[in-house]
Order: sequence, then structure tokens, then C-alpha cells
Amino acid sequence: MRQSLQCGRGLVLAACLATLASAACECGYYYNSTSTAGITSRQVWTDAFETDFLHAPKINGDMGWRPQVYTVPSEKARGTFGKDAALENVIANPLKDNKTWTGEGANGGDAGAQLLVRSQLKGDAIPMAEIVGIRDDMLYGSFRVSMKINDIPGSCAAFFFYHNDTQEIDIEFLTREFNETSNLINLISQSPASADAGFDASGTPGFKTYNLPFKPYEGFHEYRFDWSPGLITYYADNQKLYELTVDVPDSPGHLVLNHWSNGDPKWSGGPPTADSTMTVSYVKAYFNSSNPDAGSQFDKRCPDPGDVSKICGIPDQNTPPPDASQGGDTGAQTTFLTSAAGRRSPVGWSLWSVAIFSAVVFSTC
Ligand SMILES: *[C@@H]1O[C@H](CO)[C@@H](O)[C@H](O)[C@H]1NC(C)=O
Ligand SMILES: *[C@@H]1O[C@H](CO)[C@@H](O)[C@H](O)[C@H]1NC(C)=O
Ligand SMILES: *[C@@H]1O[C@H](CO)[C@@H](O)[C@H](O)[C@H]1NC(C)=O
Ligand SMILES: *[C@@H]1O[C@H](CO)[C@@H](O)[C@H](O)[C@H]1NC(C)=O
Ligand SMILES: *[C@@H]1O[C@H](CO)[C@@H](O)[C@H](O)[C@H]1NC(C)=O
Repeated sequence: MRQSLQCGRGLVLAACLATLASAACECGYYYNSTSTAGITSRQVWTDAFETDFLHAPKINGDMGWRPQVYTVPSEKARGTFGKDAALENVIANPLKDNKTWTGEGANGGDAGAQLLVRSQLKGDAIPMAEIVGIRDDMLYGSFRVSMKINDIPGSCAAFFFYHNDTQEIDIEFLTREFNETSNLINLISQSPASADAGFDASGTPGFKTYNLPFKPYEGFHEYRFDWSPGLITYYADNQKLYELTVDVPDSPGHLVLNHWSNGDPKWSGGPPTADSTMTVSYVKAYFNSSNPDAGSQFDKRCPDPGDVSKICGIPDQNTPPPDASQGGDTGAQTTFLTSAAGRRSPVGWSLWSVAIFSAVVFSTC
């Protein structure tokens, strides 16, 4: 009823049908969270931001992410070389067969969004790639990426939340740290303390390295951080890695994926000896919004937040994600995807395929 009324406000029919068809999860998303004390609770988030890069023919704002263009000269890059973020280093490599969920990319190799660090310098700068999520109103939530990084030494591959230089939550891989016995992941929270140390978080509690039980360059894995007031919990394939309770950010921001190098022997190293690739197959974020407009939209679509039938469960991703259709089949309100493959379940198909419409009309309805 409520939705039919909204449709009367001059929206085109297709868009309205899309809104109706994707009218799931009106009251948000949840997962079960178990604390170190063993207490399980339902974590509920109002908004979703899901991107399937396996079927993305290009990477732009329509897909939820904006490739960045900037240069940082060597004297400001905190390294031996400058950094040169350019469009040509962000490459869409959708599945060759877009009706499937696995297989080779159209350009060969792993399918997904490719972020490249080039071995050939441009002036004194190392060519790199960065994409920024379009939602800038993320205030607490669960943030997940499925990615694979190659093992060419000399770059830093990162997935992070950014408010500013002292409120930032990072997952970073240094490819020079990979070898037979080392599969290090760096879990970092930039804080006023790390700023005081010249943005070297290594002496602060917001810095932890963890040796993963798998090789990040041999396959895709889901890396995740859950952020709530006073607590950040990091995961890999749903295995808890670390809990941070000090200097936890408390201001809204956006997600960033980047792959860079500045020659700093103590961090990225590099430049890499050959072009180096980070491949991203999906990002899934469930979060609360700091935007009052989003809040009033939520109130409209969810008059009774206690109605658990309208809160979608987010499946745990306990194993390396075989593809983007797993572990996030929520029928999310805001999904960025073009897919002929559909979801695995027949019902999910229509939700998934029309969700891109609802992303467009989201602000209108
Ligand atoms: C997020 O929003 C939900 C629904 O309004 C609320 O129950 C939850 O407490 C919020 N979480 C945080 C960390 O603010
Ligand atoms: C980052 O943002 C917080 C909260 O808005 C603010 O208190 C802090 O001064 C900012 N830090 C920097 C480096 O601007
Ligand atoms: C493997 O990498 C770790 C971390 O960078 C390093 O401490 C160790 O010495 C390396 N081992 C070999 C055999 O290179
Ligand atoms: C949460 O836990 C309950 C009780 O064990 C279970 O029925 C439900 O499926 C779980 N939900 C999710 C999203 O994992
Ligand atoms: C899938 O691939 C076919 C053949 O390349 C193309 O014509 C079609 O537009 C693609 N569909 C989507 C949804 O990307």
C-alpha cells in the first residue's frame, strides 16, 4: 500500500515495479555476532552497499565506485618516488561468459576489478590505482571485500574506511611480505597517536600484523572489518583475527580500494619488477547512515523497525568466496550490478537484476 502511494508520485512504471520487486530488507540487515565473552547478539544495520565486480563491464559511479586521478610528488609521498593515480590503471575484467559466476575474465586471468601498480615510472612517480565508494555517509557497519593480490614484491594493496587521516580503518597487504612462510595481513587504525608518530601506526595499538593460514595471492578471500562504537573486529573468511578497542573512529566516511607504491623500503617497497595486480570480485557493506535524508527514507520504508520479517540476514562467508553470488544474497536496497547470470535462487534472480534500478530510484522514492 505504502509503496503504491509512492509510485503515484510520477515515477516511471519500470522504476516503480523495480522498487516493489526489491521491497525486501526494508528494515535493514543483520548478522549474528559473538563477542569474546561468548555472547551472541544481532547486529542490525539500516543500509546496504553491494557491488559485484565479476559482471561489471566498467568501473564508474554507476557501479558505485569512482576511479581517482591525482599525483603526489616524491617529496610529499613519504617515499622515494611519487604516486600517480590514473584511470588506465583501473581495469574492468568482467567474466567472459556473463551468464556464469566463475571462469576467466574477458581479458584473460581472474575476473573482477583490476587495480594495477605499474613497474614503469611516469616521471618520478609510480603509476597506481584507486577507487572510492560513492556513499560518504557510512557511520558504523560491517565492511567486506573479496580480493586476490599477486605476489610481485613492491606494492601495498588496501581496503579501507576513511573519514580523515586520524580516523581511518585499514586492511593492507604488502606484497614484499609474502613468501613461503609469510602471509601477512596488516590491520591498522590511523589515530591521533599514529599522526603524532608521522603517520607510522606501527608503535600504536591500532597496528597488528597477522599471519594468515592461506596465501592471499593463490585465491580470493573475504577480508572484513566490523566497526561499532569503541570496537573494530577484523576477519578473514569469517575467522576473527583481532579486536581493537582504542582510538576507534566515530565520524562518518567512505570506502576506498587502492593499490600503490612509493618505494618506501619500510612499507610498500617497490616499484614492482613487473605490473602488479590486485583483483576485487565484490564489496559488500552493511552500515548505518549519518545522512538525515537516508534516515527519513528508512523511517518511510520501515514504519516498524521491530518487524524482524523485514530484516534480511547476511550469510556468513566461512570459506574462500567462490563467487560474488555467495555470502550476500540479501536482496539489498542498494546494489550495483549488471548481470545476465542472476542469483542462484530463482526468487533472488529478479531481486538482483532489478536492484540496480532501485539504486537509481532510491533517492526518489
Ligand atoms: C544502527 O541502526 C540500527 C537500526 O536503527 C540500530 O538498531 C543500531 O543500534 C545502530 N547501530 C549503531 C552502531 O549505531
Ligand atoms: C579528523 O576528524 C575528527 C572528527 O571530525 C577531528 O576531531 C580530527 O581533528 C580530524 N583530524 C584531522 C587530522 O583533521
Ligand atoms: C618471509 O617474510 C617475512 C615477513 O616479511 C620475513 O620476516 C622473513 O624473513 C621472510 N622469510 C624468507 C625466507 O624470506
Ligand atoms: C542467527 O542465529 C539464529 C539462531 O541460531 C539462526 O537461526 C539464524 O539463521 C542466524 N542468522 C544468520 C544471518 O546467520
Ligand atoms: C552479456 O554478454 C553478451 C554477449 O557479449 C552481451 O550482448 C550482453 O549485453 C551482456 N549482458 C550483460 C547484462 O552484461
